[in-house]
Amino acid sequence: MKTAIVTGGAGFMGSHLVDKLVNQGFFVAVIDNLATGTWDNLPGYGPDQILKLTWDITEYPSEEILPLNQADVIIHLASAASPVHYRRLALETLRVNSIGTENALRLARKFQARFVLGSTSEVYGDPQISPQPESYWGHVNPNGERACYDEGKRFGEALAMEYHRKFGIDLRILRFFNCYGPRMQSEDGRVVPNFVRQALQQEPLTVYGNGLQTRSFCYVSDEVEGIYQVIIKDNLSGEIFNIGNPEERTILDFAKVVAEIGGVTLKTEFRPLPADDPTNRCPNITKAKEFLGWSPKVSLEEGLVKTFAYFRQS
Ligand SMILES: NC(=O)c1ccc[n+]([C@@H]2O[C@H](COP(=O)([O-])OP(=O)(O)OC[C@H]3O[C@@H](n4cnc5c(N)ncnc54)[C@H](O)[C@@H]3O)[C@@H](O)[C@H]2O)c1
Repeated sequence: MKTAIVTGGAGFMGSHLVDKLVNQGFFVAVIDNLATGTWDNLPGYGPDQILKLTWDITEYPSEEILPLNQADVIIHLASAASPVHYRRLALETLRVNSIGTENALRLARKFQARFVLGSTSEVYGDPQISPQPESYWGHVNPNGERACYDEGKRFGEALAMEYHRKFGIDLRILRFFNCYGPRMQSEDGRVVPNFVRQALQQEPLTVYGNGLQTRSFCYVSDEVEGIYQVIIKDNLSGEIFNIGNPEERTILDFAKVVAEIGGVTLKTEFRPLPADDPTNRCPNITKAKEFLGWSPKVSLEEGLVKTFAYFRQS
């Protein structure tokens, strides 16, 4: 049986990835300090399937803390991801993406494991080209309100690449673009849970700025399949992949779709655009298609139906 370590595995994307890995026969050690995640996202697993370790990855876990003889792959997802959380946890976000990333890389060295770094489209900042290919260096405010996240992730990429160059770590960097689906927190401030919650409560949908900024939304099962392909494929060391859905929408257009799927009349309330909010976001996924044979399958409408169903129950 193969063993995976997933940091941040009690969070939204991480818990879906843990489900997938266990389904594929992996034993998974999940390291999470529950800053924004919860073990409720991973109910019903036995100790022969997953090890739940409540631990802050900015502290290196000793052998007593993490009693594993082997690990084949480490997927480092630990980090607040929504602007509401990473502003509240700004220093923690910088630390987990720097010190935490180095500790995860040290584990990869110790176990000679493959290392998958969960990075973000935010490394492109407010991009001046669209769609964004992996070769684009970005347009980022290095000390603005989003910098704890954007620059934290950029530092994490640089650090992981140096571990790859210096120690030969089998590294793959993934840049995720707006992933959504069940297990997102309704109050985490990201546009999908915001709109879905507001539609369910028959409230106006809050649009920041003029609503003409664009985003591309990838349903979580598609995102997890992309990560899984990167985990299992050989000969990808040092490669970077955008994993997201290239179907680009303006926020106003997205609000219309949410209202339609939620069965409510569209009402919007406009608020000022937060500092450094990107004007556009769209992945170029040519490389993921070519190297991984991966592209998203779930339409926005289909994904929203499932997301509404989850938010209605929770
Ligand atoms: N969801 C998206 O749209 C998206 C987009 C781009 C990148 N990402 C990246 O994917 C990863 C997962 O995002 P998510 O949406 O699932 O967020 P999330 O907040 O639901 O999950 C993050 C998890 O990391 C844990 N964590 C935070 N700091 C930690 C620490 N110091 N030690 C151990 N665990 C810690 C949290 O408790 C949480 O369970 C993050 O690295 C995020 O930056 C997500």
